[in-house]
Amino acid sequence: MDGQEVVAQAAQVIHRARYLVALTGAGLSVESGIPPFRGPGGLWTKYGEPPLNGFQRFLADPQKAWEERLNPNGPMRELWETLVNAQPNPGHYGLVELERLGLLRCTITQNIDNLHRRAGSELLAEIHGNATLVRCLSCVHRMPLDAVDLSRLPPSCPRCGGLLKSDTVSFGEPIPPDVLRRCQQEAARADCMLVIGTSGTVYPAAGFPLDVHQRGGTLVEINPYETDLSPYCAVVVRAPAGAALPEIVKAVRALRSN
Ligand code: APR
Repeated sequence: MDGQEVVAQAAQVIHRARYLVALTGAGLSVESGIPPFRGPGGLWTKYGEPPLNGFQRFLADPQKAWEERLNPNGPMRELWETLVNAQPNPGHYGLVELERLGLLRCTITQNIDNLHRRAGSELLAEIHGNATLVRCLSCVHRMPLDAVDLSRLPPSCPRCGGLLKSDTVSFGEPIPPDVLRRCQQEAARADCMLVIGTSGTVYPAAGFPLDVHQRGGTLVEINPYETDLSPYCAVVVRAPAGAALPEIVKAVRALRSN
């Protein structure tokens, strides 16, 4: 099947969906200049997978963890530096358009880069948090990092006095209950899921497309490379998201105007 045919097939599936949800990963932000974690150019490919006890290390010495967060080095420095200058790309805007057409009911993103919000996505669940926010580990209250008094580390929650941490979910850290519940509810309602720019290797996020497939739902993968989820996808668009999504949205608009 050639590129145009698979774009048309993806548009058909989206147009017919009763409840469409998207799951996005680091690949969607590659065309914004942010490296992915795995695969070509991936941070973990370059530096090796990070330790899986980041959260435990934070709890053991929150002050040291905050100092590292504010003066990162190694892979995290590279990631923060690209985050600062990154702009949403046509892939992010394509999802905003599907949301504004009333087709896309929720975007579940694994990305912490804030680009979905900056592009205008409103029906959004940030399962791994947002790098511009800080979260209280006791009451789950979130606030912008630049609104927090960092004169004393670690900072305390202005509401309950609890320990504040970057909203970015660390390895070993439970997904905050409010966002996990939202993701589970949205995935449970989906009869169609767009799987965009994710290697499908980190759970619980990678489990949502499998749940949709298990219930007889349809998966559409948008990714230049094969992933663990590819075999479950009825439609596979082997292309960069920034190129494919605008084409798919254009084809959806054409179907809706017929
Ligand atoms: N468009 C779409 N997909 C792309 C593009 C692109 N331009 N470039 C690369 N990709 C694909 C890669 O082929 C890969 O399948 O994006 C995927 C990126 O995979 P990962 O780097 O593993 O990113 P992700 O799946 O989001 O990782 C999940 O792992 O390290 C943790 O918390 C981190 O949220 C992250 C989680």
